[in-house]
Order: sequence, then structure tokens, then C-alpha cells
Amino acid sequence: MSDKIGIVLLAAGEGKRLRLSVPKPLAPLKNKKLIDYPLNAASKFVKENSLVAKTAVVVGHKKEMVIAHLENNDIEFPVQEKQLGTADALKSYFENTSFAESCSHTLVLCADTPLLNEETLSSLYKELKEKDLDAIAATFKDENPYGYGRILKAGEKGFNIIEEKDATDEQRKINEVNSGLYLFKTDFILSALNSVDSNNKAGEFYLTDVFSKDANVKALCFDNKDIFLGVNTLAQLEQARKILNKNKVNSLMNEGVIIIDPDTVYIDENVEVAADATIYPNSFLMGSTIIGKSSIVEPGCIIKDSIIGDNVYLKAYSHLEKAKVENFAAVGPYARLRPGTILGEKTKIGNFVETKNSTLEKGVSVSHLSYVGDAEVGEETNIGCGFITCNYDGAEKHKTIIGKRVFVGSDTQTIAPIKIGDNSFIGSGSTISKDVPAKAFSIARGRQENRENLAYRFLRGKWKIDK
Ligand code: UD1
Ligand code: MG
Repeated sequence: MSDKIGIVLLAAGEGKRLRLSVPKPLAPLKNKKLIDYPLNAASKFVKENSLVAKTAVVVGHKKEMVIAHLENNDIEFPVQEKQLGTADALKSYFENTSFAESCSHTLVLCADTPLLNEETLSSLYKELKEKDLDAIAATFKDENPYGYGRILKAGEKGFNIIEEKDATDEQRKINEVNSGLYLFKTDFILSALNSVDSNNKAGEFYLTDVFSKDANVKALCFDNKDIFLGVNTLAQLEQARKILNKNKVNSLMNEGVIIIDPDTVYIDENVEVAADATIYPNSFLMGSTIIGKSSIVEPGCIIKDSIIGDNVYLKAYSHLEKAKVENFAAVGPYARLRPGTILGEKTKIGNFVETKNSTLEKGVSVSHLSYVGDAEVGEETNIGCGFITCNYDGAEKHKTIIGKRVFVGSDTQTIAPIKIGDNSFIGSGSTISKDVPAKAFSIARGRQENRENLAYRFLRGKWKIDK
């Protein structure tokens, strides 16, 4: 019979040391939550080893919030009413989960170890199977072991894990520490849990005590300590973020993305960037953003949930959110593309231009200081400097439709709802409130009058008038 793995994430603790308003499993880490990372590693481990598995998350402190975040997945949520320690949390799992006892093996992860990966879980599983062990704990060596349980291989049976609080000065010098990741044969852990007591400084039931109850257990020491980083403080949360970001940036560089000064570039986990793109310093590529090949992202751009085509040029300090930019378009510097913006091929958006919920077809140019909202702009239309779609009447938003190859002079406002026909021409400084037919010339501004030698009245002696 093939193994069935019960995967348990211990996530009932409060995370006091973080001092956040959300419970520790929901601490923000890049664009996800802390607990999403070990869950993701566990599900990759299951897939890669073609295992049968079920997952449970032990909840307690602010459980409604944790459940709300994860409930659309196939996960059970046993509740640990009082946080009496990690052994008690695992007991709650066995008492309140439908599948727990039917699994041949039980894999325990802590919600606060976000850098764990599937390879580590696979090695642990392989070792337990090969040596036919009852239990295995993943350990690592750290020259600064403060806060972790120390591995003390002294007893007759198995080994002891001594928590920081309970350790003697001599024991605190031990630098092999417990990572909080364990794999058990379910029969073993079910009986071992019954013999755990709370005789320690914290008065808690420590899961770690089970390793001193049996000789057929092992501490498997891993070389890479980074992957076991336990997040108990905000400094550790930031340390985890830095490592995750570095891994992401390095993997993109390996795939052919040029990243200049990578320590300053922030890239979320699911972001995709094609080969030969260049990302300059201080850029933020966030959420589900995709960047096409040979595109350039200049310094200081913030790009959220946007799709950028190939050979696009995003100039410095542009801000994009839920926008789509097609091939060979140029945006910025200092442009703002708000949600619903679609820029066609070879469009050009210049400095201090804001767009929202608008489609600009191929070759459209809006080069300076404009607002284009709730609009459709046809191919190759040129919009001059200081153009405004007046789309809001105080109650509702209205649409602006501008045709193909229209010339809109600078400092024009169009008052929506409005349609400007193809090949029309709008004179500068116009306030256009009526539809403009195709091919028409339209102008709507006060006529100019010049009065000879009248300036002196307005200058009121302030400036000398030339003779
Ligand atoms: C734990 C280990 C320690 C190890 C370290 C690795 C124990 C006793 N100690 O210490 O040896 O070096 O992890 O990071 O296990 N939790 C519950 N219910 C509880 C208590 C905790 O669900 O009653 C959960 C927490 O939400 C957390 C996990 O268990 O996800 C670990 O708890 P935490 O308080 O972080 O333990 P550490 O002090 O880090
Ligand atoms: Mg911890």
C-alpha cells in the first residue's frame, strides 16, 4: 500500500514577538502571507513524489482570519483552543481532523518557516523510508543559535531538544539546532504524544520531547541554514523577504534577464520577465506582472498586476497598475497608467500623463501633461499637451470616443459623453462639448482682440514701458 501523508501546519500561536495586528501566519511577506510559503513547499513535495496527502492547519489565535485566508483550498482546520505548546497543537490535530489517524505518516511544519523547499521535505522523507525510522527532525548548524532548540545527543534513547529558555549556559553553546520540521510514522507519534509533559520553564507541552522517547529516531542535519529561518520577529520577516527576493532575482538573471543593481530591485514571486529584458535599479515588479522580451524598465518604476509586451520602453518613475502595454510602446518618464488602461502597439505616453479605463489604439501619442479617462482613442491619433477628458459630472463617469488619425491641439478639454470623428482636427485651447463629425475642423475658444497701446492701463506703472 502506498503511503498516505497527513500534512500538519502548526499555526495556532499568537506570534507575540511580531507585534502585528494580524496573527503570525498572516504576516505579510512579499505579496503573500507567511503561511502560504510552507503550504506551497508541502504541496510541491506531494506532487513531485506522487504521494497521496491531506493537509490540515492547526488554528487558534485569531483563527477566523487564518481560515478566511485559506478556506478555498482543500484544507481542514482543527482548532487548538488554548496555546499550550507545539505537542498540544499536534494533539488537537489528531483529535479534530477527519483523516489524521488514517495516514501512515505525519509531516509537521511550522507556519513560520517560509524558506523551506520541497527538496528538503523530499530528503527527509527519503531518509525516514530508507532507514525505516519512527521519526526524523530536520536540523541545521548556526553560529548564532539564539532562540532555537539545541540538539543534545546525550541520552540513551534518541536525542534531546533543549529550548533556549531551558538550556544551561553550556547547552546554549551547542550550535546544531532544531528547525521545527518533522516527519513521523503516525503510530509512533500518536503514542509518544501521550507521554509529553509540561515540566519546563514555559510550562508548555513541547513536541520536541518526543525525540527522547525512542531510539529509532534521527536528527538529519542540513547544510543550508537559510531555508530553515524561523520568523519570530519583524527583523527575521525582513531577512526572509530579502532571501526570497534574492532567489527570485537570481532565477530571472539565470533565465537571461538583465537586472542592474539587483539588491535594489523588488520582484514578487509570480512575476514573469522574458529574456533580454532590462530592469534598472529601484524598480518594483509586483503581483501578477508579466514583462515581455527586450523590454526596458527604467529606474523607479512601480508595476503592479500589469502585462507589458515585447520591446516596450518604460521610462523612469512610471507607475502602472492593472494596465496592458503592447509591443514597442513607450511610457513615461513620470507616467501613471491606472487600471483598465490598454496601450496598443507603438503608442507613446509622455511625462505627467495619467490614463484610466481607456484603450489607446496602435500609434496613438499623448506626449505631455494630460488626463485620459474612460476613453477610446483610435489609431495614430495625436493628442497635444495639456489635454483633459472631462469624464465626471459629479455623479457619474461618461465616455469619450476619439476616432482614428485625429489631431487634438494642446490645452483642449472634451466634455463627456462625447464623440470626435475620424480625421478631425481640434484647434488648441478648445473646450469641446458637442460631438465633432469626421474630417471636421473644430475650435471652441474666445476670439482674440488686440487693442493698440492699451497695456499701460493694466501694468499700472509696475513695469517701465519702452519708448
Ligand atoms: C520551535 C521549536 C524549537 C525550534 C523552532 C524553529 C518547540 C517547543 N520548539 O520554537 O525547538 O528551534 O521552533 O523555528 O516546538 N504553535 C501552535 N500552538 C502552540 C504553540 C505554537 O500552533 O501552542 C505554532 C506556532 O503558531 C508556530 C509553531 O507552532 O507556527 C512554532 O511555535 P513558536 O512559538 O514559533 O516556537 P519557537 O519558539 O520558534
Ligand atoms: Mg518559531
